[in-house]
Amino acid sequence: MPFVRACALSELEDDTPHRVEIDGVPVSVVRTEGEVFAINDICSHANVSLSEGEVEDCQIECWLHGSSFDLRTGKPSGLPATRPVPVYPVKIVGDDVLVSVTQES
Ligand code: FES
Repeated sequence: MPFVRACALSELEDDTPHRVEIDGVPVSVVRTEGEVFAINDICSHANVSLSEGEVEDCQIECWLHGSSFDLRTGKPSGLPATRPVPVYPVKIVGDDVLVSVTQES
């Protein structure tokens, strides 16, 4: 899949998720600990936007029931979510944040 511009790097505030849509896929773009990550914006437990949650220790927390997802792998660190959320490769080119949204299964 090609990389698509998601937003400007300068738009991102540390630890504040930025929700975008790429090819119809909701994505939360997060700058934290000097890196930028892209994770599907929908919790794997229920239809809740992860970008409304908090970021800490390279994890994004679902505000509804409190599962946290690793921004590098998408894996949940605790219940009630048991399935990972897709994560996507990110490239930074100048001030552009590019994300490649792969097909979800
Ligand atoms: S909806 Fe996210 S943990 Fe329940």
